[in-house]
Amino acid sequence: MKKSLGVKAYLYPMPALVIGTYNDDGTPNAMTMAWGGLCDFDKVALNLEESHLTSDNVAKRMAFTLAVPDCAHAAEADYVGTVSGHDVPDKVARCGLHAVKSENVDAPVFEEFPVTLECKVLELQHGIAGFRVIGQIVNTLADESVIGGDGEIDSDKTDGLIFETFQRTYRRTGEKLGGAWDIGRKFEK
Ligand SMILES: Cc1cc2nc3c(=O)[nH]c(=O)nc-3n(C[C@H](O)[C@H](O)[C@H](O)COP(=O)(O)O)c2cc1C
Repeated sequence: MKKSLGVKAYLYPMPALVIGTYNDDGTPNAMTMAWGGLCDFDKVALNLEESHLTSDNVAKRMAFTLAVPDCAHAAEADYVGTVSGHDVPDKVARCGLHAVKSENVDAPVFEEFPVTLECKVLELQHGIAGFRVIGQIVNTLADESVIGGDGEIDSDKTDGLIFETFQRTYRRTGEKLGGAWDIGRKFEK
């Protein structure tokens, strides 16, 4: 028996990602984002509140980084999603994140996060879903420690952070079940 719950925006898992930008004075800023992610093989969509400092920064520099934090840095990811750079301009330094300048875009890369997408802004959209940024991935940085034998990022090694919206908790990714575009093939017989 299923229960009707009304409009509940439940999708699980949601990625907990960290957007990196530069403030006007060059200070690195970071904010956590769960309402967004890949929207094409080489593009990402950020759904942002206009009031966030990140929104101003992205529009001014037309660039950002999007990091996949590991679970070891869940508290740092939570902190930068809890306080605004408008109020705490040095929030990155305060939680011990280390920023270096991206070689490809005008945005900071945080050393602690194992995977980072370096992105240029393709489009700023003001539509029915609010403020949305479409970004072009121009490069992906991965720590050597998360690269597998095939030279690709190994999700078993990244230990990527997951957000779930109803109890508002962070989770860890689980075990591999099988290959995508593969385990369903048994129905082809
Ligand atoms: C788990 C989590 C997910 C969040 N997802 C989003 C999101 O998708 N979009 C958004 O605009 N804000 C989101 N936020 C809120 C911002 O991260 C937060 O308001 C942050 O302080 C903004 O920082 P800034 O003003 O320095 O840019 C999220 C916060 C948390 C903790």
